[in-house]
Amino acid sequence: MKQDENYILVIGGAGYIGSHIVADLCDSGNNVIVFDNLSTGYKSNIHCNAEFIEGDILDKVAVDNALSQGIKTIFHFAALKAAGDSMIVPSKFSDINISGSVNLLNAIAKFGIKNIIFSSSAAVYGYPQYLPVDEGHRTLPINYYGFTKLIIEQMIKWYAKIYGFNYSLLRYFNAAGYDIHGRIINKEKGSTNLLPIIMEVLIGERDCLSVFGNDYKTKDGTCIRDYIHVNDLSDAHIMSLDYMAEKRKDLLVNLATGEGYSVKDVVKIAEKVSGKTINCKFVDRRAGDPEELIAKTTNAYDLLNWIPKHSDLSTIIRSMWEVYRR
Ligand code: UFG
Repeated sequence: MKQDENYILVIGGAGYIGSHIVADLCDSGNNVIVFDNLSTGYKSNIHCNAEFIEGDILDKVAVDNALSQGIKTIFHFAALKAAGDSMIVPSKFSDINISGSVNLLNAIAKFGIKNIIFSSSAAVYGYPQYLPVDEGHRTLPINYYGFTKLIIEQMIKWYAKIYGFNYSLLRYFNAAGYDIHGRIINKEKGSTNLLPIIMEVLIGERDCLSVFGNDYKTKDGTCIRDYIHVNDLSDAHIMSLDYMAEKRKDLLVNLATGEGYSVKDVVKIAEKVSGKTINCKFVDRRAGDPEELIAKTTNAYDLLNWIPKHSDLSTIIRSMWEVYRR
């Protein structure tokens, strides 16, 4: 099929975050192939100009076939991400996140791929020792999900050293929001994150929001997080690609705004945007929740000139509400 070696392969490109990046890559004229098993993604999330291969990252032959087609760059989004589940069924996270990435890295080595952009997470840091958390903060995950992301980062660094490709490790804080251009319209499947759950309460799919703890030492007793719009994440991915192409250097950056909002702030703004009341009940703290997690983001600004444009909380929530209220 492809032989001009300029194709971008997006593993997990039908999922929530991957599909946003695919849309931007296609709209800016790149040749894109999506590889996805549709376990949490949707075929209809995939931009019409992208080719689609339905395949599983655990299927070595399928991965090899996909990478053998003149691919220059890989974006890797395929992973399980529910931190709570990772402490109940770690084996699934070992398989999909770790073994899947091993298959991918072996194929990257085999076919001489030049660049990989990896969707990592603030979960690699664990409990913050100081705030805001910079990229030099110690990495000590407190859930197995965070451990899988850290181990994959380390494998990528080793393979890059041995096989001579470039990498970008992008550590997302709390990814949220939906495409401001309306290109992605499928609701996430089975998310356990705060904002999708609030949306499900607003549309009546859930009775109420359980707020995990109201006795934290924060301004209103609820946890504080740093929310980043998925379109801003997408910009950073594309800038990383340009950075690697121009500078032939590797990258490790936090992606966030540096601004914190409490769970109560989020509820208040979601009520304002939707014009509805959110039924909340306060329940026990969730194990492994740091009371505050905010990023230092100067690296992404200094290296990529990246500035979040859509990440004020009202814009994030409005963009989600547009999708969920339909
Ligand atoms: N929360 C509730 N009720 C819910 C869901 C969440 O009160 O039903 C609270 C949590 O306790 C937390 C906040 O909302 O205080 C945000 O929780 P999320 O589950 O949405 O997100 P996390 O901060 O736990 O984790 C997310 C990603 C991780 C990533 C992390 C980085 O899921 O992958 O952000 O900041 F590592």
